[in-house]
Amino acid sequence: MTTPLLSVKNLSKTYRGPGGKDVLAVRGVSFDLAPREILGLVGESGSGKSTTGRLVLRLEDATTGEITFNGQRIDTLPQRALRPVRREMQVVFQDPYAALNPRMTVGKFVSEPMEIHKITAGRTETRDRVADLFKQVGLDPSFMDRYPHEFSGGQRQRINIARAISISPKLIVADEPITALDVSIQAQIVNLFSDLQEQLGLAYLFVAHDLAMVRFLCHRVAVMLRGRIVEIAPTESLFQNAQHPYTQALISAIPIPDPARERARRALSYTPDEAALSGELREVSPGHFVLQA
Ligand SMILES: Nc1ncnc2c1ncn2[C@@H]1O[C@H](COP(=O)(O)OP(=O)(O)OP(=O)(O)O)[C@@H](O)[C@H]1O
Ligand SMILES: [Mg+2]
Repeated sequence: MTTPLLSVKNLSKTYRGPGGKDVLAVRGVSFDLAPREILGLVGESGSGKSTTGRLVLRLEDATTGEITFNGQRIDTLPQRALRPVRREMQVVFQDPYAALNPRMTVGKFVSEPMEIHKITAGRTETRDRVADLFKQVGLDPSFMDRYPHEFSGGQRQRINIARAISISPKLIVADEPITALDVSIQAQIVNLFSDLQEQLGLAYLFVAHDLAMVRFLCHRVAVMLRGRIVEIAPTESLFQNAQHPYTQALISAIPIPDPARERARRALSYTPDEAALSGELREVSPGHFVLQA
């Protein structure tokens, strides 16, 4: 077993909801992510996927838990000590336009992290590097002096990805990075993530809800329900042998591309109760863990 790149132990986040009622957004979440590994995070809306991503990135502070990145505890680091950590950990969000600065050329936007971290020496080197990054994500380098509104959604997400890889991170947290895109180009962006992972040896924490895409891209998958991980397993083990009724329901809802089999598909319904959310993760086959009482 290699040393994990990221290790999360017993992570929790409680928000004060409307009327002072506590919202347990994340409850006792633990997982490891190996270098070069893609871990998918799936589950219904509000299950705590984005919160988990934000906690890992230290965009928010956890209520409890430990986060170890690259062998270093980062949950206890003050914000000012996070700068070297931020170099190794980047983010790609769902809405590619919101992430961009409408008044900044996209080339400048891509170069910003390199300037903040003083990676390139001077303007020429920066422009050359930006041109390389544009090519790497499938954009024409001559576009670098244009503004975000001149690009399509898919191109905008390519720009965000170029920025994320610009300072050679080890980990990218991607929060539904294809959900807002036109269906016809989603596969292209997923392929780009896949290619870059191989070429650059990146690890991803990949929040998604398209399970067919998750099956294609991810090495392992964690299923979240109401703040908990209810099942985590190597991808094929999860899809072929789902154990938790919630995972089974999620998988039964995936359309099958073959019409005959699609007609025979029966979606399972599942209503979670507290019993299904208590207990602990138990290993049912190698690397395959299920929440059990
Ligand atoms: N800043 C906040 N203040 C209060 N409650 C919050 C905040 N952020 C998230 N929550 C609540 O925490 C829970 C988990 O939210 P989160 O955004 O992590 O879910 P998600 O799995 O990413 O959902 P989605 O699939 O809709 O993006 C939800 O109940 C949400 O309403
Ligand atoms: Mg979310």
